[in-house]
Amino acid sequence: MATNIAGRHFLKLLDYTPEEIRYLLDLAKNFKDMKRAGVPHRYLAGKNIVLLFEKTSTRTRCSFEVAGMDLGMGVTYLDPGSSQMGKKESIADTARVLGRMYDGIEYRGFSQELVEELAAYAGVPVWNGLTDQFHPTQMLADLMTIEEHLGRLKGVNFTFMGDARNNVGNSLMIACAKMGLNFTACAPASLFPQEDLVETARAIAAENGCTVRLTEDVTEGLTGADVVYTDIWVSMGEPDEVWESRIGLLRKYQVNREAMNLAKDTAIFMHCLPSFHDTKTTIGAQIAEKFGVKEMEVADEVFESRQSVVFDEAENRMHTIKAVIYATLK
Ligand code: CP
Ligand code: NVA
Repeated sequence: MATNIAGRHFLKLLDYTPEEIRYLLDLAKNFKDMKRAGVPHRYLAGKNIVLLFEKTSTRTRCSFEVAGMDLGMGVTYLDPGSSQMGKKESIADTARVLGRMYDGIEYRGFSQELVEELAAYAGVPVWNGLTDQFHPTQMLADLMTIEEHLGRLKGVNFTFMGDARNNVGNSLMIACAKMGLNFTACAPASLFPQEDLVETARAIAAENGCTVRLTEDVTEGLTGADVVYTDIWVSMGEPDEVWESRIGLLRKYQVNREAMNLAKDTAIFMHCLPSFHDTKTTIGAQIAEKFGVKEMEVADEVFESRQSVVFDEAENRMHTIKAVIYATLK
């Protein structure tokens, strides 16, 4: 039977089968080809979507906006603080109001429970644009980028360096397990993903012929890696006070030239972005002044190297988000 996810929410990859993920990746590739060739695809003209952001964003917001406009839709953006949600109106009431006006709702915020509650009441598809626990639309872009550069997903050795229990680390572990990549979290044990999620990922990986490994050892974690991935050391919503201890814990997990040399010669470097690879940001400059650390999760040399595919990855956010919107609203 042909894959059909019309009317579904997109809240976490755990809700999706490998076949459904494959379908979204193929759809994204078609959309990318059409965009490159200048072929119009206003397939959802007449529909409207709303983007609710309780945390800041560049890529996710712009991807939803451009994807929505390319598909011919009206798009409303509500920034952190400009809606009544949470402060004067409950999630359930907000969901029911927006569901009467819009055909789909994107939500970026704090707990995963919030986006799940929004979905339970909205009556229209809800897409998770990042919560503290998961970042599923990022995963589609990451898988697409790996396939473009390495020509395959199955059997790829994928290593995540750094804060492995954040939204991106958690989601990558599930994405790899679903799509047959061997996942390694290389991190201090205190920043390993939660045990129950690791168990779940291992069970999924066993079905798909791949593995999930956790290690504190940098050499073990990187040897033989096809993909080296990292994310910022302190995520949105975490207090500034954690910077000092996080730097102490993660300094040796920085992706620098030495680290990349442990991976395969053909390895690619990935990052969801934004990234602290120099001191050209306000926070980057503050951290450099306070702690003397000028490059954090990735050295500038690696970020700017030929192995780095971070801007392809960023572009693919838009094509994959377009696939999700189209497939769930068509
Ligand atoms: N990668 C990502 O989600 O980026 P934004 O925070 O800019 O949306
Ligand atoms: N872990 C990061 C991801 C940003 C896209 C954060 O939550 O801030």
